[in-house]
Amino acid sequence: MSHNTFGHLFRVTTWGESHGAAIGCVVDGCPPQLAISEAEIQTWLDKRRPGQSRFVTQRQEPDQVRVLSGVMAGGDDGTLITTGTPIALHIDNVDHRSKDYSDIESRYRPGHADYTYEAKYGIRDHRGGGRSSARETAMRVAAGGIARKVIAGMTVRGALVQMGEHKIDRANWDWDEVDRNPFFCPDAEAATHWEPYLDGIRKAGSSVGAVVEVIAEGVPAGLGAPIYGKLDSDLAMALMTINAVKGVEIGNGFGAASITGEENADEMRMGNDGQPVFLSNNAGGILGGISSGQPVVARFAVKPTSSILTPRRTINRAGEEIEIVTKGRHDPCVGIRAVPVGEAMMACVLADHLLRHRAQIAE
Ligand SMILES: Cc1cc2nc3c(=O)[nH]c(=O)nc-3n(C[C@H](O)[C@H](O)[C@H](O)COP(=O)(O)O)c2cc1C
Repeated sequence: MSHNTFGHLFRVTTWGESHGAAIGCVVDGCPPQLAISEAEIQTWLDKRRPGQSRFVTQRQEPDQVRVLSGVMAGGDDGTLITTGTPIALHIDNVDHRSKDYSDIESRYRPGHADYTYEAKYGIRDHRGGGRSSARETAMRVAAGGIARKVIAGMTVRGALVQMGEHKIDRANWDWDEVDRNPFFCPDAEAATHWEPYLDGIRKAGSSVGAVVEVIAEGVPAGLGAPIYGKLDSDLAMALMTINAVKGVEIGNGFGAASITGEENADEMRMGNDGQPVFLSNNAGGILGGISSGQPVVARFAVKPTSSILTPRRTINRAGEEIEIVTKGRHDPCVGIRAVPVGEAMMACVLADHLLRHRAQIAE
């Protein structure tokens, strides 16, 4: 199985399965002499970690990260200095219950990769979905922690802006709220409504979809490239690789299809500091595949968790028509834990483009 690597100059390769001994990644191309620490990478992983509220899977994985290579000790406080060589990151899997999955060894769960993996490879690791499990996304988050060091000066933040049909009120957007509720929701009022709503979904053994928005600020003008190396196409690709993501928008996205050219124009004026000022940001900070200096804005739609307790019709390996109930411990809304994953993917893409940019400009 190839295609476990993404990025060009900031290159991330992940390995491991949900029910194997461990998961890990190699971050290659990270510039030397950056100060990183396991503790800081851990803070990002802790945002994605399961078992933190009743609204996410009750798997108890501490997701304790270890940096195995590519660094030298930079002091007694745990600071590590990158050496420019491959950085290997490692997390042990500690809470897997493979027996939860014995029922599905020969059955194809609707909405999962069971049928397609088997159709392609003729073999599949049915324990927790193997490589298709979102357990792999922990390593993206760890790699994102290093990417954030490469793009120091840029801020990448994500939030849940819609759960099921319930959207936030953008007038209430407050980044400080994101860490005050279990949904990464920037609208305190919406979060209070989401709580009983998701409780109902969870108790019914059902699930619901969501929309995540990721915004990068402090991105200088000029990152990206024309045609096949567009910043927006790389971002869309990176976000689309996240499990359960079924749609990606940049800036106004699909909304651009229903407005006029006058409404869509991000008009420009000259600022007092001699830099251009855009009067709106329908473009999501990217024009012609190159960042404009405005915030880079991306949204992605996450489908409802496929593992639900209501029986669904499917088939088994023998071709028999059966019904299936997916037991085990699952997120009622995977969009919640997809927020830190989306942030990490945005950070990795920006880090990659920052390094590519340096290779493409005049001194
Ligand atoms: C953070 C995160 C956690 C997830 N947890 C679950 C889960 O508990 N149960 C489930 O059915 N799907 C879960 N998924 C989604 C599946 O991994 C995904 O739907 C499946 O592998 C099929 O891939 P696809 O939806 O991208 O086509 C999760 C996704 C993310 C991003």
